Amino acid sequence: MARIRLLSEETINQIAAGEVIENPASVVKELAENAIDAGASEIRIEIRGGGQQLIRVSDNGCGMGADDAALSLERHATSKICRADDLSELRTMGFRGEALASIGAISKLTLTTALEKGPGHQIEMEGGRLLKVAPCPRQRGTTIDIRSLFYNVPARKKFQKSAPVNAAEITKTVTLLSLAYPEIGFTLVHQERETFCAPALEAGSFYSRALQVLGETFCAASFQIDHKGFRGFAGNPSQHRPNRSGQYLFINRRPIFSLALSHAVRDGYGTRLTEHRHPIYLLHLDIPPHLIDVNVHPQKREVRFQEERLIKEELREVIQQAFEEPKGAPPVLIRSLLPPPSQPFPWDLPLSFKMREERADPEPLCAPIHEEVHPLGVFSHYLLLEEGNLLTLIDLLAAREQVAFEKLSKKGAIEKTGLLLPFVFELSSAEAHAMEAHLSLFEELGFSLRLSGAQSFIVDAIPAFLETSAIRDALMQIIEGKTSLMNSAQLLSRFARGNKKQFMLQEALALFKELRKCSSPFQNFQGKPIILHLNQDEIAKLFSKKI
Ligand SMILES: Nc1ncnc2c1ncn2[C@@H]1O[C@H](COP(=O)(O)OP(=O)(O)OP(=O)(O)O)[C@@H](O)[C@H]1O
Ligand SMILES: [Mg+2]
Repeated sequence: MARIRLLSEETINQIAAGEVIENPASVVKELAENAIDAGASEIRIEIRGGGQQLIRVSDNGCGMGADDAALSLERHATSKICRADDLSELRTMGFRGEALASIGAISKLTLTTALEKGPGHQIEMEGGRLLKVAPCPRQRGTTIDIRSLFYNVPARKKFQKSAPVNAAEITKTVTLLSLAYPEIGFTLVHQERETFCAPALEAGSFYSRALQVLGETFCAASFQIDHKGFRGFAGNPSQHRPNRSGQYLFINRRPIFSLALSHAVRDGYGTRLTEHRHPIYLLHLDIPPHLIDVNVHPQKREVRFQEERLIKEELREVIQQAFEEPKGAPPVLIRSLLPPPSQPFPWDLPLSFKMREERADPEPLCAPIHEEVHPLGVFSHYLLLEEGNLLTLIDLLAAREQVAFEKLSKKGAIEKTGLLLPFVFELSSAEAHAMEAHLSLFEELGFSLRLSGAQSFIVDAIPAFLETSAIRDALMQIIEGKTSLMNSAQLLSRFARGNKKQFMLQEALALFKELRKCSSPFQNFQGKPIILHLNQDEIAKLFSKKI
């Protein structure tokens, strides 16, 4: 009896999908790239349950007519190339005509699309089977909903990471695309909360987008590069990493991993970098499409170079030269992009993208706190207020600690900062076990952590108040302490005091407002005072004391 048989269409499609779609973040990548290719100026991504429940990508791009919409879900159907030769002139993110078909084969998909003129259309697909095509009102553009991802591929579903880890991966994917396409506005909404927003900028504003997304701290400390089609930032040699996790390379606006180019950058740093350490960088390379082959990796994460040696040599030189030019003040360009000094700026954010919650204070910072409260000023880390006939003193460092403590002890209240460059650290095997046993505690405390290898962990997000330099210390103190939520909240909130001891008045008032929302604004959990009031008699007494 013959042992070889032809596989069913359904099985072929599921296998093919497995190559392209690894996790919810790969779906977001494919759908957002399609929106980019469709000429969208706004892309909105909504996810639920880390993307496993729902991924919805909406764009205001060119949209599709009814026939194209139905064809777009077929395998090997594309509008981007006609023949293999076209690959040498490729300017689009997609070209294989298989992403939508792959996603449709392993999920429940709804596509709603409309051209500039004419009616819109909606198509429903489930596990690769077309269920329904119907007219549907919509403005120009496309919305694709993906529900129940991997519902018919249990083997893949079983190996999916937790919702927070998937959400962090998606944020990273969107962040990367936003760095490559500053002229497009990107919004990411997770569980109905906006977690990332990069408004559209002028075309070509790569530096402004980097500043918008990564923050001034990284950009100002780095070396700006703009030479021979290489643009971006080479991190300060002191910001090295034990691995390549902080290296972001875009080739013709496509996020790419290239060991060869990573070595070239490393060579450019020369002896400025300690042995066995890796630099961090964000680099955009413009290379004529005919000199690269993008059709080498299922998820298009790698490319092959025709003149690899030449590109490596040029890259090495460009990096080397960046260090040789006198640095002094931050480059003029960066300075001109900085917000005016009166505006509060998250100075202490490391190379991280700012999640939306962090800037979510909808009230203006200068709004009066209370009619009878008049700010007098800031002295060292104390805020001075006149409240009726009282002089009020607020210890701002203690206030930071208390605000953090109360948020940490309430489930889901702590704001997170996603790290664009994940923080990786190694532990002894006992420590790694302790860490793994308390992953849910760390989630509650605002960390997104995942195991990588037997004894190393990757941190993708941290509580917003924590400085990156303190991550390891904070995690170690928690696993060494009594790992109850209350105890950990006490340990961790101490880090909220931070290194910065100077406050601007606006910043101090914003913190005071936060403190007033606390259930215990006057005393911390150890009974130490945070706010002191002095009336006129008490002040007079201080003066009348004999020395
Ligand atoms: N958001 C969108 N707006 C307009 N057209 C779209 C959109 N998404 C997909 N399409 C159309 O559907 C076609 C198929 O999309 P699909 O992602 O499957 O393939 P592709 O982008 O051509 O190639 P690849 O598989 O490499 O991504 C595209 O070529 C494009 O014409
Ligand atoms: Mg595509």
